Amino acid sequence: MALSRLTLTNFRNHAALTLQPETQFVALHGANGAGKTNILEAVSLLVPGRGLRRAALPDMARNGGGGGFSISAELDGTTIGTGIEAEHPERRKVRINGSNAAINHLAEWLAVIWLTPSMDRLFIDGAAARRRFLDRLVLALEPSHARHSSRYEKAVQQRNKLLTGNVAPDALWLDALEAQMAESGSAITEARNRMVHELTAGLELAPAGPFAIPAVQLTEKEGVAVEALAHAWRRGRIRDAAAGRTLIGPHRADLIVTHMASGQPAERCSTGEQKALLLSLILAHAALVTAQRQAPPILLLDEVAAHLDPTRRGALFERLVQTGAQVWMTGTEPELFNGIGPTAQLIAVGSD
Ligand SMILES: Nc1ncnc2c1ncn2[C@@H]1O[C@H](COP(=O)(O)OP(=O)(O)OP(=O)(O)O)[C@@H](O)[C@H]1O
Ligand SMILES: [Mg+2]
Repeated sequence: MALSRLTLTNFRNHAALTLQPETQFVALHGANGAGKTNILEAVSLLVPGRGLRRAALPDMARNGGGGGFSISAELDGTTIGTGIEAEHPERRKVRINGSNAAINHLAEWLAVIWLTPSMDRLFIDGAAARRRFLDRLVLALEPSHARHSSRYEKAVQQRNKLLTGNVAPDALWLDALEAQMAESGSAITEARNRMVHELTAGLELAPAGPFAIPAVQLTEKEGVAVEALAHAWRRGRIRDAAAGRTLIGPHRADLIVTHMASGQPAERCSTGEQKALLLSLILAHAALVTAQRQAPPILLLDEVAAHLDPTRRGALFERLVQTGAQVWMTGTEPELFNGIGPTAQLIAVGSD
């Protein structure tokens, strides 16, 4: 999977921009505020979800640009497009080869994984971001994960609304919602478990190098049996009504990461070690995607080069070359990409 063209129209600060990647590494450089991360954000919207900033759609439309935006990309002969129209700024539209398509279909065409500076806090902040990270890894391997996740979230929201409404909730309706939650929730947890299991196997083979190797685990107290899940929610109705939300289920799971060599939980590792743990995870994941989808994912690495010492930067470039993945990197100075060599296409952002 590699983009051979990316066209942005009225997306963030880019009124009209076309990039044509020709090599494995797309190295975007330019001053602060030039619009480098915006380009990565645009690529991150070529898969289901809210993109790497999790921003609201109308915020992505260029100020003064009329209210709509579009992102279009060429990928192995397929044209993928997404964006919003000014009249319906909350509705993300997707087009695949010129025809309208559901957002979740994007996952069948493309796998995109990113690392951004805000993820430096991934192991320190709450479980929600780690869950989202794990789900992105899963989605890259199993496109059906998007469908299960949306179904599950919708059913949980409806259950919460029913439990906290002014009228006594209809027990049959709750039964139906909990059955739906159990079916999609079980599929979600199974897929997450498969990912954790396969990552663990892959990480055991990771080459010794300057990057700390993580051990990964999933907390999931409710298991994956559909009937047991439905039963746990049925039993928990009064408790959940009092809390105003559903207190157990896959939407509360957490990804536990440990520094394999030292046994330290990731949140106690140094900033650099935490970054290395994340990079190791992403590299192991890229190998999994390559093996199972016969093509590596696209990697978006925002400001990763600047945060590594030259030895680790060199080692990272070497590992990235081996993945065969198309890598979009950003940095303020082109010199940060010196170690990559001829496979880097340096693109100056904001100088047109
Ligand atoms: N909807 C929008 N319309 C116009 N400009 C926007 C919009 N949203 C963000 N911007 C502008 O985009 C710029 C930020 O772009 P971006 O984050 O991509 O910069 P960057 O090149 O990654 O910079 P840095 O090196 O500091 O990370 C800011 O100047 C911001 O004001
Ligand atoms: Mg940036």
